[in-house]
Amino acid sequence: MKRLIPRLEQDNVEIELILLIKTILTACKEISFRVGQGALSNVLGSTLDENIQGETQKKLDVISNQLLKDMLLESGKVRTIASEEEDYVVAATDDAPYIVAFDPLDGSSNIDINGQIGTIFTIYRANNEVPAESELQFAQPGSEQVCAGYVLYGPSTMLALTTGGPSRLYTLDKTQGCFLLTTETLTIAAETAEFSLNMANFHQWSSGFSHYVNDLLLGENGVRGKKFNMRWNGAMVGDMHRVLSRGGIFCYPNDESKPAQPAKLRLLYEANPLAMLVENAHGKAYTEHERILSIQPTHIHQRVAVIMGSANEVDTCLAYLK
Ligand code: AHG
Ligand code: MN
Ligand code: MN
Repeated sequence: MKRLIPRLEQDNVEIELILLIKTILTACKEISFRVGQGALSNVLGSTLDENIQGETQKKLDVISNQLLKDMLLESGKVRTIASEEEDYVVAATDDAPYIVAFDPLDGSSNIDINGQIGTIFTIYRANNEVPAESELQFAQPGSEQVCAGYVLYGPSTMLALTTGGPSRLYTLDKTQGCFLLTTETLTIAAETAEFSLNMANFHQWSSGFSHYVNDLLLGENGVRGKKFNMRWNGAMVGDMHRVLSRGGIFCYPNDESKPAQPAKLRLLYEANPLAMLVENAHGKAYTEHERILSIQPTHIHQRVAVIMGSANEVDTCLAYLK
């Protein structure tokens, strides 16, 4: 099986970018080790702090953020960093070629139950017109990402990665400490009979979206004419790993009862990287009305509705929202 670095070289990925990806993965391997040790490495439970989004930080949110930040600051390859767990952007190395955003630990509520969790990351080219300490570095649509990926800390530790070409899957060989290519090309089938959404929010959705889900639930005897199954992990990274692996649709629509902040998932470090992985695996990724990768961001912690996965199912869902 091919190792990650030779595979990236074969894809003609520039050497500076390969080194940056390697840095991110060094931090992820450390996170993977600590997650694997669980209660033995004192990573479970909460801190007493909140992040800028008003969420209580788990110990592992803070540890993962610190590991990634320290290694990226040391790497010399990154001009600016944005993280879910940092209120503002962090200026790193002047004149460095890239900027990086990450969700250090996605699925925080799964940490203490030994459930699926992961790290999501995205890389863009730095903008020479803007200072390193400005969040305007990240005022680039997701279509400008030069690399997007996640590391899933599940029964095995897996990496999903795209550098513009196909989305590929690698598995961490813990005996050698390296990622080995295990799926050359991910392809999300256009059709699916599996959906993934938080049904507890049913009464907060728009009438169009509720209508869509109602029709899914009607099964063989309804307008859709087939039985759908539901899966929900509570961690986007785990749910999207399933969608990338065997198809499906993942939705986190707007909450109509919260007009000031209707969406939950973050554009920069959740929706955009997953959208790039999905599109490069022949799937589709939309908000309730536009392609996620075309959105011009207005701030680093901006949130968007998310509907992504099997292409035909995303189209069907969007037709209910017109
Ligand atoms: P995070 O742990 O990084 O804050 O993200 C959690 C996100 C996402 O992964 C997941 O799909 C969603 O929140 C679940 O939220 P609810 O349980 O509120 O539906
Ligand atoms: Mn998250
Ligand atoms: Mn997180």
